[in-house]
Amino acid sequence: MLKGEDILNTAQFSVQELNLIMNTAASFEKQVREGSIIRNLEGQVVAVLFFEPSTRTRLSFETAANRLGARVITVAEPASSSVAKGESLADTIRTVDGYADVIVMRHPMKGSAQIAADNAIHPFINAGDGSGHHPTQALLDIYTIRKEKGALGGHTVAFIGDLKYGRTVHSLGYLMTLYKNKMIFVSPKALRMPEEITNDLRGRGAEIEETEDLKEALAVSDIAYVTRIQRERFEDPAEYEKLKGSYIITRALIDQAKKGITILHPLPRVDEISTNVDNYEGAAYFRQAHNGVYVRMALLALVTGRA
Ligand code: NCD
Repeated sequence: MLKGEDILNTAQFSVQELNLIMNTAASFEKQVREGSIIRNLEGQVVAVLFFEPSTRTRLSFETAANRLGARVITVAEPASSSVAKGESLADTIRTVDGYADVIVMRHPMKGSAQIAADNAIHPFINAGDGSGHHPTQALLDIYTIRKEKGALGGHTVAFIGDLKYGRTVHSLGYLMTLYKNKMIFVSPKALRMPEEITNDLRGRGAEIEETEDLKEALAVSDIAYVTRIQRERFEDPAEYEKLKGSYIITRALIDQAKKGITILHPLPRVDEISTNVDNYEGAAYFRQAHNGVYVRMALLALVTGRA
């Protein structure tokens, strides 16, 4: 299962595949924590191409590849690659496909992941395509939910912030639907979840509520998934200025929220979660970031057939 496959979005996964990814990640987590030397990807080359800024996704993919014993080649600065000379994405990918055994890419254009996958023979992993999807983030999000909550289903999950441009919530919505969670989409009107996604999720059986009222949503939610307003996607900077700071999770809000609420955030945070929330025991976002390494180890090992 998953050998040779591309990871493009989260709508592609069956529950069986997700179980395999979660269990493989847990096994790698155990091995890393025990200090084992892991050699699953020895002799393999992983290409990590980032045409957009990143801290966690790129470094955790590189950490994952290194922990598996692979070698890594990286483009972290598009200005240093031939993209800056006007090379097409298709040509870049065809070239890198000749160097590496698996390709991981982040790119500012929605839909770029499909173009890249179409031009690669080796497995391709989407690490974020513009405002499209970010499947590996959603996988580490559910790995985190499983660890923090003990189960993946039966929760009420509030998605908060920029649901229009935030690719992580697009991807997570599909997984939450598969595991029968209720979702409350909390955003300013201008940043609502794209209708095509909401409709698609409802068609897959999702129970979704939409609101602008953060306090009310927090009072009934088991999980709050907070997102950054995606400044880089706005055409009009004034529009961003108007919407930034729309929703801020403060300690006082947590005190009025449902007891035991878990706070997740893909990070980076700007100001949407006050730093005095960080020592609340349900604030799981840094644990969430750490989990990314194990989930990405699982994905690299599974798509290369070396899990
Ligand atoms: C997210 C992304 O790049 O979409 N970051 C991440 O990968 N952890 C979220 C964001 O940038 O706001």
